[in-house]
Amino acid sequence: RVEDGVRVFDLSAQEGTTAFVPQGETATLGYNGSYLGPTLVAARGERVRVDTVNGLSDPTTVHWHGMHLPAAMDGGPHSPIAPGASWHPEWVIDQPAATLWYHPHLHGRTREQVDAGLAGMFLVRDDEEAALALPRDYGVDDIPLIVQDRAFNPDGSFAGGIGMQFDGVLGDTILVNGVIAPHLEVTTERVRLRLLNGSSARMYDFAFADGREFDLIATDGGLLEAPVPSESIPLSPGERAEIVVTMTPGEQVALRSAAPDPDLHAGSATFDVLELRAAESLGDSPEVPAHLTELPTPDAIAAAPERSFEMSGHEINDREMDLGRADFTATVDTSEVWTVRNDNPLPHSFHVHDTQFRVLSVDGEVPPARLAGYKDTIALEWNREYRLLVRFEDYADASTPYMYHCHLLWHEDQGMMGQFLVV
Ligand code: C2O
Ligand code: CU
Ligand code: CU
Repeated sequence: RVEDGVRVFDLSAQEGTTAFVPQGETATLGYNGSYLGPTLVAARGERVRVDTVNGLSDPTTVHWHGMHLPAAMDGGPHSPIAPGASWHPEWVIDQPAATLWYHPHLHGRTREQVDAGLAGMFLVRDDEEAALALPRDYGVDDIPLIVQDRAFNPDGSFAGGIGMQFDGVLGDTILVNGVIAPHLEVTTERVRLRLLNGSSARMYDFAFADGREFDLIATDGGLLEAPVPSESIPLSPGERAEIVVTMTPGEQVALRSAAPDPDLHAGSATFDVLELRAAESLGDSPEVPAHLTELPTPDAIAAAPERSFEMSGHEINDREMDLGRADFTATVDTSEVWTVRNDNPLPHSFHVHDTQFRVLSVDGEVPPARLAGYKDTIALEWNREYRLLVRFEDYADASTPYMYHCHLLWHEDQGMMGQFLVV
């Protein structure tokens, strides 16, 4: 609803049960329902407010992953909402059209709450994206896909999973928008899939069963300059990708995930994620435009200072998260160059709040096309050096920090996180 020029969303965290499997109900958490939450949609330039109610018996927070916003609205561990209490963050959307998401960020308990079902998408629209001939009819040819892995006990409750103890819980069953083995009735020649890896530890490598090429059009922070013809797209926890796939009438094809990193996977390496079933006659879709947007060439020359982040064990730069310590202070309206390295063979990723960064290089080389756009989360391959151009704009706050962390949620909960102020 719109009240006095503010777009207002109601979001209520609730306890419930969900019937995923025939054997029995699973205790779950959800926003405005028993599992996951509504897709929030707002346009660039709009002022938004989320009237958030905590209907849980535990504290929680709601973090807007990928959103550029004041630290006090960011929903990190410094903004707990007590059971029964409410929280009313308000900000102006000011970033390009993108697929963002929201989830709890309670210190030490993020994995538990996200895995129980607290997550949803937040789509940003803008005029530039709206002017392109891309599928954007939500639920028809523009489909949000929250991909998660879970394991079930024989009675239907969530099981601990088949995970490795150092990385968190891996499941042997894939849920897409909370559904096992889903299919999508495709009614148009082209369909846009907004993929979110909403899992706490599993890395995916999405591809179609027949190896068909698709267009990668957007990553975490918005459109790429041009579609990238791809046969697969890897996503680590928290990352998003928008792809456009072309279908022929009457055909069926599965979207699958293979294992990008065999060390990460116990059990089967390949999962079916979603079956696409095309109708006998498909509505026309325009060709994907050859040019999508203009991205500034990332220019590190004026950026200062440089910082480096060594991810090892469950620490960043040999320190565990301390809610009482700001690890550094950045200056508003400046850019910095961050060098990030994963020092050990455990899988890690790197996520920064408030900003969308650009990847300058990977091991000194130009990054692959899929990393050329705006990103807020990046998978870190072992022993590679990622140089990121990170910019902080608009919002200064000397008391509330933003977070950076590994987005494998168990690692984050273990303290593989730090915080910084922007002043
Ligand atoms: Cu998606 Cu700090 O989180
Ligand atoms: Cu985030
Ligand atoms: Cu990690």
